[in-house]
Amino acid sequence: MDDFEKYLRSNIPSVESFHPIFNDALSKMLLAGGKRFRPRLLLSVVDAYNPLLLKNAYSVALGVEFLHTYSLIHDDLPAMDNADLRRGEETLHKKYDEVTAILSGDALNTEAFYIISKAPLRSDVKIELIKELSFYGGIGGMVIGQAIDCYFENKILNFEELKFLHIHKTAKLIAVSLKMGAIIVGLDKKLQNNLFKFGEQLGLLFQIQDDIIDVTEDEKEAGKTTGNDENKNSFVNLLGLDKALQTRDEMVKKLEIEANKFDSKLSNLFVQIIEKYFKN
Ligand code: IPE
Ligand code: IPE
Ligand code: MG
Ligand code: MG
Ligand code: MG
Repeated sequence: MDDFEKYLRSNIPSVESFHPIFNDALSKMLLAGGKRFRPRLLLSVVDAYNPLLLKNAYSVALGVEFLHTYSLIHDDLPAMDNADLRRGEETLHKKYDEVTAILSGDALNTEAFYIISKAPLRSDVKIELIKELSFYGGIGGMVIGQAIDCYFENKILNFEELKFLHIHKTAKLIAVSLKMGAIIVGLDKKLQNNLFKFGEQLGLLFQIQDDIIDVTEDEKEAGKTTGNDENKNSFVNLLGLDKALQTRDEMVKKLEIEANKFDSKLSNLFVQIIEKYFKN
């Protein structure tokens, strides 16, 4: 277990109350694991430019993981994707009840900003971080993406609309994770924006891969309910599996070229990430 994972496990939110199960529900999905893709992106940028700030950035990275985990808890709810398994565990609404799942998600959403507000970083930096995450993790990204994803079930979108959906649902949060790392170490706006743009493409690739997983892996392999995208505007449904795989491989090549346009601190990192997550 690496240092960030240890940090995460010793900073699970909890509340003092006489509610018999709320703290269990709140901790369940965080402790269940997950790839920690977004916090690791953030921390990688910090580590590349100012490793002395790495520990100070942990609570920000944790905030990103809280927000992402909340999005998964809500994504699995009966009203959204209605999934029974997440991170190898029963989903919260299955294990407990819907109310507990909804409120655990709500709590992780607000805790994300609470923990970032307390980070040992300059106040102006923290305001910037909170601004970026609240927008792209909210209506400027994940939330509108999820709204479109669910509203347009069984209604076929064109390719541009499909890209809008997935860029917002998934890619903006991935992009903002990189940008937040850049904000912490004080990179200039141009580099921040280049990182964000790269993150959007990386995030799109991430969702293509996720849509492929839905049809190629069983729930044991994926640790979550699969075969669940039948009514969705997934890349696989729009393009077919072969074309989706081909698109993924083309995007990997494109991103490797883009990765090499950054200085070596970042390009090495990005090439490693692409290798680890997107090459079978
Ligand atoms: C799943 O995210 C939801 C998507 C945005 C595709 P992850 O694949 O990062 O899930 P965990 O965090 O590893 O469980
Ligand atoms: C979810 O996308 C994206 C989120 C914002 C949580 P999916 O619905 O495809 O994610 P999985 O496959 O359930 O993890
Ligand atoms: Mg979904
Ligand atoms: Mg889902
Ligand atoms: Mg999916």
